[in-house]
Order: sequence, then C-alpha cells, then structure tokens
Amino acid sequence: MNVGFIGLGHMGVGMAANLLKGGHRVTVYNRTLAKAEPLVAQGARLAASISDACEGDAVVTMLADDEAVERVAYGDGGIIDRLPPRAVHVSCSTISVALSRRLSDAHAKAGQRFVAAPVFGRPEAAAARRLFVVAAGEPGAIEAVSPLLEAIGQKTFVVSDTPQAANLVKLSGNFLIASVIESLGEAMALVEKAGIDPRRYLEVLTSSLFDTPIYKTYGGLIAGGSFEPAGFAAPLGYKDIRLALAAAEDLRVPMPVGSLLRDRLLTLLAHGGEHLDWSAIGRLPATDAGLPSA
Ligand SMILES: NC(=O)c1ccc[n+]([C@@H]2O[C@H](COP(=O)([O-])OP(=O)(O)OC[C@H]3O[C@@H](n4cnc5c(N)ncnc54)[C@H](OP(=O)(O)O)[C@@H]3O)[C@@H](O)[C@H]2O)c1
Repeated sequence: MNVGFIGLGHMGVGMAANLLKGGHRVTVYNRTLAKAEPLVAQGARLAASISDACEGDAVVTMLADDEAVERVAYGDGGIIDRLPPRAVHVSCSTISVALSRRLSDAHAKAGQRFVAAPVFGRPEAAAARRLFVVAAGEPGAIEAVSPLLEAIGQKTFVVSDTPQAANLVKLSGNFLIASVIESLGEAMALVEKAGIDPRRYLEVLTSSLFDTPIYKTYGGLIAGGSFEPAGFAAPLGYKDIRLALAAAEDLRVPMPVGSLLRDRLLTLLAHGGEHLDWSAIGRLPATDAGLPSA
C-alpha cells in the first residue's frame, strides 16, 4: 500500500520501519525532522508537511496524546483537510475515547474512513513486530488496512465496528498494567524490608503463579531500578490513567484503584520523574517503607 506515517517517536520509528519491511511505500513525517533520517535511509520518502504524508491509500498516526493528534488532524493542511476520499486514517496513538469519536465523525463527514488501532507492547516489541493491535471501525475499512496492521504487529484483535471501543479497551489494559506495577512494587517492598532478595522473590513468582510477560518485564525493571531511558515515559502513563478515569466518569463506573494510580503517577512527576519510565511508580512503595532508593 501507499501509506503515510506521522509520529516517529519511540514506537513510531519501529512501526514505520516494519511497514517498509512489509513492502509498503511509506512516506514519513515527524515534527522534529531529524527523527525521520533513519527511516529515509531504509527507503522511506520524507514528507515536508503533514499534507505531504496524506496522499496515499492510508495515513497512520502514532503521536503522543490528544493534543498532538488534534494538531495534525484538524485545521488547514491537516489530515482531515488533505486525505483523499475513501482513504483511511489509522490512529494507533493511545488517545481519549471522546477524541476517537470526534475523529470518526469528522472523517465520515469528509468522505474518509477512520480506524482506531491502538497497540499493546513497548518500543522493543514495536521494533520486533511483536505488537498486539486492538482495532475497531467499519469492517470494510479494517479490511482495507489489514495489510498495514499485519505489518506492524504479531496479532490484530478486531473488537467493534465503533472505533472508540478500541481506545477504551487499550485504556483499560493500561490501567491493568499500572495496577500490576503498583502491586508488584508493594509486594517487593514488603519482602525486601524483611531481608529477602527481591530478584529471587521475582524468580519464584514469575516461574510459578505469575508466569506472564507483564510480571516479568515490570518486575525486572522495578528490581533493577532500571527506569532510564524511559520506554514508556511517566507523563504518557499519567495521561492514560487520566483518560481511563475520564471514560469511567462518562460511563459512571467508579474505579478506586484508578484514582490511586493517578495519584501515584502524579507523585512520581512531582518528584522529578518526568523523564523516567512509568514503572518507576513501582519503587514508590519501597521509598514509603523507608528503604534506600534502588
Ligand atoms: N512507549 C510505549 O511503550 C507505548 C506502548 C503502547 C502505546 N504507546 C502510545 O503510543 C503513542 C506514542 O508513544 P511513544 O512512546 O512513541 O511517544 P514519544 O516517543 O514521546 O513520541 C511522541 C511522538 O508524538 C509527536 N508529538 C508530540 N507532540 C506533538 C505535537 N504537539 N505536534 C506534533 N507531533 C507531536 C512527537 O514528535 P517529536 O519527535 O517532534 O517530539 C513524536 O513523534 C502514545 O499515545 C503512547 O501512549 C506507547
């Protein structure tokens, strides 16, 4: 396919590279142009503007947050202004349910199609084509972009005809990951204060009842105190918990653990954690317990 790709951050750079490897013609755009250089070296065409990246069958966006997506989607020369009729905007960023709904309506009005396709997996998974894609949208639109979804991930789950459903599933998943980070951090502080080696403790848990990638990945990061460089930065994690709570508020679903996680991430940010991985909240329980920083 002839596809534009906007947003070459930690995740986007690997995803765009995999579209190229999948044989697609890829035109890349990034606000900070220098980040496009490695992709151009791999055969991508460089777009000088957002509009330049909107000339193909589809455009994929992988941007930080609602504000960034709004900035590239709306306005003169934005995606909605420039994308050809019937072309598809594939939105992979983790954005709000409300923005996804608005984008879906705006694209429909402009005669274009919109698929929400947020992903699970960190930058290493993006680079290795191991992402899990959660997609939603009109079936014809999903079918049209399925070669792109196949090129970026190991598996695509289609959850609904309504795009914003995929965003809700993604946000609920990140809420669960953050819950695991917090509870792992508490359990690890408990055993560490009793003099038990947290790495050995983790080995026991992840070789028995908790033999899953989330416990292994995040347990390892917490035990090693390896929060830099951030694979998923704390401000993005904070954004996601807030978006999950906003969706919960709209649907009148109390999520007390979500409120606690919002405060944990806020505490991390207030103590200079802007540049750290979000898993650094997993060390806060140890600090609360009077243990030395890792
Ligand atoms: N990292 C993960 O583990 C992970 C996993 C799953 C999903 N996600 C989600 O994927 C999305 C991207 O994450 P990431 O880790 O790749 O983030 P990132 O490294 O911070 O990259 C963010 C991208 O958005 C662009 N951007 C930010 N603000 C912008 C604005 N106002 N106008 C135009 N472009 C703007 C950045 O451009 P510049 O280069 O110019 O700054 C960059 O290309 C987020 O929604 C995140 O929640 C991340």
